[in-house]
Amino acid sequence: MRQPLVIANWKMNMTLSETEEFVRRFAQEDMGSSSVEMVICAPFIALSLLGTLLQQTSLLLGAQNMHWEKEGAFTGEISPLMLREIGVCFVIAGHSERRIQFGETDGQVARKVAAAFAFGLIPILCVGENDEERLTGKTEAVIQRQLLAAVSAMEQEQERHKLIVAYEPVWAIGTGTPAHSGDAAAAAAFIRSLLHEKWGERAVDVRILYGGSVNPENITAYTGRPEIDGALVGNSSLKPASYAAMVRAVAAGRGD
Ligand code: PGA
Repeated sequence: MRQPLVIANWKMNMTLSETEEFVRRFAQEDMGSSSVEMVICAPFIALSLLGTLLQQTSLLLGAQNMHWEKEGAFTGEISPLMLREIGVCFVIAGHSERRIQFGETDGQVARKVAAAFAFGLIPILCVGENDEERLTGKTEAVIQRQLLAAVSAMEQEQERHKLIVAYEPVWAIGTGTPAHSGDAAAAAAFIRSLLHEKWGERAVDVRILYGGSVNPENITAYTGRPEIDGALVGNSSLKPASYAAMVRAVAAGRGD
């Protein structure tokens, strides 16, 4: 059984005081004994603080990016070793905002995914087509290229089934226009079939999420699908009540 999860991607939001306030208010939410895994991917500058604050909670810590080298002359970068040291467990790799705005390539994403495993971090690999690619019928080709490039460097990796893949169509991110849940489920099934071809039965353990304009009202349309194991959420994850509502909705949908 794959454990469902709701990952918050705070992007370049939340100051340190807002971060403290989020944790304080989230602690007041009634989360019951939910089996849903909860991960907060915060800006680098808040990770150390969160590493301490989250010790009293069941929220887990994630980063939004990292370099693939352990250390060295890479001005402005953060290494996997640094993330491990402060209690980070997850790291997003290849988010479309990094691919598009910062020119991150498939090759760099592959190195990040491999480095994450090498340092005991779980990569959250983002794949997904843009609007033009969708309209010209290239969705599967784009997913296939991004996915296979990213997992190419981890053929011998024992832990590779811990990989998390987020299907995030670029046109659905931050637009208020989410993908149709049936299309998202088809993309998730396609991702699993590609991993199955490469890895065989172990691919069954990989968690596949949907991301793009997910909110408390629509989240279960995705997580209610057997192909989709959770969500990667931007805007709607910034408010503790909204994040808590999404986690509760997923848990209720699973019969917790
Ligand atoms: P959104 O962002 O929920 O604000 O659309 C999702 C993401 O970019 O991961």
